[in-house]
Amino acid sequence: MDLFEAISRKRACREFTDEPVDNQHIERLLYAASWAPIASNRTYRHCIVVDDARVIRAIRQISPSLQTNASLLIVIFTDLRTAESTVGRVAERCSAVDAGAAGENILLAATALGLGSQFTMISAMSGIRVVLGLPSHCRVDLIIPVGVAAKPLPPVSAVAPKKAQRVYRNQYEPE
Ligand SMILES: Cc1cc2nc3c(=O)[nH]c(=O)nc-3n(C[C@H](O)[C@H](O)[C@H](O)COP(=O)(O)O)c2cc1C
Repeated sequence: MDLFEAISRKRACREFTDEPVDNQHIERLLYAASWAPIASNRTYRHCIVVDDARVIRAIRQISPSLQTNASLLIVIFTDLRTAESTVGRVAERCSAVDAGAAGENILLAATALGLGSQFTMISAMSGIRVVLGLPSHCRVDLIIPVGVAAKPLPPVSAVAPKKAQRVYRNQYEPE
């Protein structure tokens, strides 16, 4: 699939069939994440592939924003200790951007592979750390459910006008 087609077809998918995502596809998604930009040459952004139904249930219990029946989650997290020692005072901001870049690569790759996915942010940070066995210097940035969409999602071109972002040329102009 052409990149621009993937951009226009990528929609937040929350309902999935129970068809499992095969390992080759999971590897492709992780590859896409790994090549997203990061603000240093040292990696402080990592992923956890979650396919254990008990772990997914535990995550859903502490996170009502995870509105999904997906049987696969890809969690993107930041090792804040390494981020701070690598990029210093801007670590918090940089690592959030880095995580978003990796997440978007996963969403686009999933679309290109014919899979559905979406972003979810978790607010129950201490609970999610316990469920995933993460130490306190790690921050969970994104949880991405992935699977076969239960029903086709209309491409963004079908729901225009969309993403009404303002664009300025050369300088911001107040309204
Ligand atoms: C930073 C971020 C956090 C999001 N968190 C959630 C979430 O917690 N739960 C959810 O169902 N969708 C979440 N979304 C998905 C958005 O709701 C979705 O992208 C938006 O409704 C636009 O739909 P579309 O992607 O199909 O165009 C999040 C998106 C972003 C960028």
